Amino acid sequence: MERIPIAGPWITKKEIDYVTAAVTRCWYQNANLYHDRFEKAFAEYLGVRYAVALPSCTSAIHLSLLALNIKPGDEVIVPEATWIASAAPVSYVGATPVFADIDPQSWCISEETFAACITPKTRAIIPVDLYGGLPDMVAICAHARHHGVAVIEDAAEAIGSELRGKKAGSFGDTGVFSFHGSKTLTTGEGGMLVTDREDIFQRVLFLRDHGRQLGNKMFWNTEVAHKYKMSSLQAALGLAQLERIDELISHKREIFGWYRAEAAHLEGVTWNYEAPGTKNTYWMNTAIVDKKFGFSKETLIKLMGDKNIDCRPFFYPLSSLPAYRNLEEAQRAQQRNRVAYEISPYGINVPSALSLDKEKVKYVCGTLENILLEKR
Ligand SMILES: Cc1ncc(COP(=O)(O)O)c(C=O)c1O
Repeated sequence: MERIPIAGPWITKKEIDYVTAAVTRCWYQNANLYHDRFEKAFAEYLGVRYAVALPSCTSAIHLSLLALNIKPGDEVIVPEATWIASAAPVSYVGATPVFADIDPQSWCISEETFAACITPKTRAIIPVDLYGGLPDMVAICAHARHHGVAVIEDAAEAIGSELRGKKAGSFGDTGVFSFHGSKTLTTGEGGMLVTDREDIFQRVLFLRDHGRQLGNKMFWNTEVAHKYKMSSLQAALGLAQLERIDELISHKREIFGWYRAEAAHLEGVTWNYEAPGTKNTYWMNTAIVDKKFGFSKETLIKLMGDKNIDCRPFFYPLSSLPAYRNLEEAQRAQQRNRVAYEISPYGINVPSALSLDKEKVKYVCGTLENILLEKR
């Protein structure tokens, strides 16, 4: 059997046609043709006023922090369980990341774990919609507003997820998305920043284009800033994918349904949670394996790999990473964040590519069961 990949896109003739059109026509005065369409369609899909296409979600978080004027001495709360890209831009602007614990069901930050980390220095929170699941963003935003804390919703992994009919990424001062090759909607590499705030939108446009104002004289920079632009080819690919987003998400949900059905009888394995009132788009199908089985995630990944199945570890708590070994906050977080430290060692992402079919999911579940029950 061919190796089953962890992730991968669903590309059709539509994507190939759009990218071909972009590479043929989108130069010089036509260079932004697909950006304009992609951004407008994305904002409409999310139900927000503005969307800015960027080279990555990391750059979208960076620009959000800059536009919100986060500075050295400020603290920004980030969940323990996420990719380092959620937190790294906090260091880019010289602020301090404060790692909050996660909820045992949603695996996301909660209002309570957020509240436990607030200090007079807290300026922003970056809640993450982990693996496509959502925390209670309404409660988090209300709590943030009460404390004068800005919200950057990291919806990198959650395009199309919803809470009470409202789309992931549309809750905070800004929302950010990733279109990395592994994501449900991909442009190879790419990202999007969305906001309803005119001031943030204008500031982001300025900061991502070397500090020049649209309409100013040419090559006239008023601040030293950044070069964060998406290419036309990526924007064309993104637009084609966005026009197929319902189909992509339905298939993601179908794949998760297969996992649930195939693994339903397997006791001691906990899968992604869909809280009442939310729609999870299951970017990464994830299994937390009870420690009674005696397998660490690293061992499980190795054993699944031996059977041609690619898996990935549940994110390591950020405060445990060598990257943060000199950060005092990380040491405090290691003591405080019990749930993240309990769950992370036993979690694996299982294959979640859009190319999966039912037979492969059956094979993955059967293999996991054999390993756990030591029927190797
Ligand atoms: C939660 C989260 N935030 C941010 C990012 C960064 O996205 P990008 O690779 O587009 O910069 C990722 C990417 O995997 C992610 O999963």
